[in-house]
Amino acid sequence: MSLNKKGAVIFSSRYGSTRQYAEWIGQQLQIPVMDVDELYPAALEGFDYLVLGTPVYIGKMLIKGWLHRHLAKLQTKQLMLFVVCGTSSSERQKQEQIVRDNVPEDLIPMENIFFLSGRLTIRELSWKDRLMLKMGARLEKDPQKKAAMLHDIDGVKRENITGVVNSAITMVRSGADSRHVPVG
Ligand SMILES: Cc1cc2nc3c(=O)[nH]c(=O)nc-3n(C[C@H](O)[C@H](O)[C@H](O)COP(=O)(O)O)c2cc1C
Repeated sequence: MSLNKKGAVIFSSRYGSTRQYAEWIGQQLQIPVMDVDELYPAALEGFDYLVLGTPVYIGKMLIKGWLHRHLAKLQTKQLMLFVVCGTSSSERQKQEQIVRDNVPEDLIPMENIFFLSGRLTIRELSWKDRLMLKMGARLEKDPQKKAAMLHDIDGVKRENITGVVNSAITMVRSGADSRHVPVG
């Protein structure tokens, strides 16, 4: 799949599930894949559209700070965002809250934001993350969700990227800006 415009997948990941999705999306769209921590801000200049990817830790997107620091540059691009986490598709209100808390207002419309199932491998976590998870589980009232936070989960599947890829293609072909930019 080769589109006329220049694009890139830019992601952040702690344990690899967001990286995995980023690589699959990059392969499918035939665009480069870059880790935010290895990216020179000047490199953003060369791209017309970006597919951004981030996991969520304690309600916070790993790329939250980066989104705010590079807001002016990002506002000139067509943008998609995929969010990798444990919040399921049935928890729409929670997802919307995560977006409100992390994404600068009006930067990316909701229809360009996709939530993808993440992965949790307890034995791979740092002691700090394991502790955070245990504390979170202690505070969780729903017994099912509490149990889910203390067990491994693997929802990372290649077929999950279909919506992101199709929407990226539609966005780029339509040529529409991802935001409504007021003129004048
Ligand atoms: C300490 C910790 C906190 C987490 N907090 C959240 C959270 O607040 N909301 C959520 O939906 N998922 C949460 N998750 C699940 C991660 O977002 C999920 O495991 C994701 O796949 C990790 O992405 P990565 O492998 O790219 O780092 C948490 C996981 C850990 C280990």
